[in-house]
Amino acid sequence: MTSLDPVRANMRDTFVACRAGTLDLFAQIDDSEFREQPHPWFSPVGWHLGHIAYTEGLWLLKTLGGVSLPRPDLEPVFDVKCRRNKAERCNLPPVAEVLGYLGQVRDRVFARLAAADLDQELRLWHFILQHESQHSETVAFLHQLQNGPNGIEHRSDGSGLDGEDLIAIPKGSVTIGSDRIDALDNERPSHRREIDGFRISRFPVTQSAFQAFMDAGGYETERWWTAEGWTWRTTNGIDRPLYWRDGASDHPVSGVSAHEAEAWCRFRGVRLPTEFEWEKAAGWDPATDTRHPYPWGETPPDGRRCNHDRLAAGTSPVTAHRAGRSPTGVMDMLGNVWEWTSSNFSPYEGFQSFPYEGYSAAYFDGNHRVLRGGSWATRPWMMRTTVRNWYTPDVRQILAGFRYAKDGLEG
Ligand code: AVJ
Ligand code: FE
Repeated sequence: MTSLDPVRANMRDTFVACRAGTLDLFAQIDDSEFREQPHPWFSPVGWHLGHIAYTEGLWLLKTLGGVSLPRPDLEPVFDVKCRRNKAERCNLPPVAEVLGYLGQVRDRVFARLAAADLDQELRLWHFILQHESQHSETVAFLHQLQNGPNGIEHRSDGSGLDGEDLIAIPKGSVTIGSDRIDALDNERPSHRREIDGFRISRFPVTQSAFQAFMDAGGYETERWWTAEGWTWRTTNGIDRPLYWRDGASDHPVSGVSAHEAEAWCRFRGVRLPTEFEWEKAAGWDPATDTRHPYPWGETPPDGRRCNHDRLAAGTSPVTAHRAGRSPTGVMDMLGNVWEWTSSNFSPYEGFQSFPYEGYSAAYFDGNHRVLRGGSWATRPWMMRTTVRNWYTPDVRQILAGFRYAKDGLEG
């Protein structure tokens, strides 16, 4: 490519880096897994790859540039608006053909880049980068669902993480949300919120701590569960987390629904944090009274600070990333496992849909719960203290765990 100015060159390099991770993931997936739908709530593995290409073409070629997409015959396969049910999406072209489609779209997108009015378009380019990031994470958890967690040994270092280790966050107002160019519609607009004093656990709940609940018959004891949670548990015959591995471990529990997280909390006399408590604990710096985009400050994620981008190919002990702790000392807020909160997914005051109505607004229905923080499979472009993920409380495939909170500063 001919020489680009720094903003364009940086955008191109970031797109190339994101795509390299997507392709690296698909290198582990053979043609039969490509067609597999490991769970009916999620589209088949290979569909996500074509949908990444189609969505990139739809916005960065057709919408912004009036440029046509290659392979118009593939549009009905990969456009979500075609409302085909997710099982029907198994009828896919061969992997090589979808990879070819991905490359053809990208070639046209990069051809546009040199002359594009990037000032005007920047927000949409950031959206597309994060859209690919999200779908590549979905492929990563579908791959784990299909093949089981990796063989990395889980061990306890005996640091006694079962005990209550709480960090007190004083009452006060804090900035919530973001207006950065990469902030998604549901993160905007940033605003101030008054938050009562609370305490939050220094670490996500570990396998060992969850084991204690199981050993005490937690799954069989109705009083620990909400009515909705108990119905869900009994109807589905759930008796352990989805990605459970036997043995004491300082890895975070992973593969729990919000119902299981809440049952554990009730058993322990604690509760889930709200999404705003979570955000304050993750990013608020008492020294400057500012809220950072990352717990450690202003620099983008790296493997020393958080377990993300499949760097560890699975979870890591919750104590492993001290360098990523927040100013108040809370650890593992970004990466490792997504964390359920008690908050329903709803718009901030002044919310405006971007780039289309259905991206977030379709899920402000009272049935979706906010998760924060990202997992070991989250791409770096989705890792911020302000990012909000959302699923219904019964979903357990998504690499989610939780941490807990308590009202007040003591007692
Ligand atoms: C935010 C991860 C719940 O993947 O279902 C991707 C994001 N929206 N394409 C999803 C999304 C449209 C969404 N999640
Ligand atoms: Fe999508």
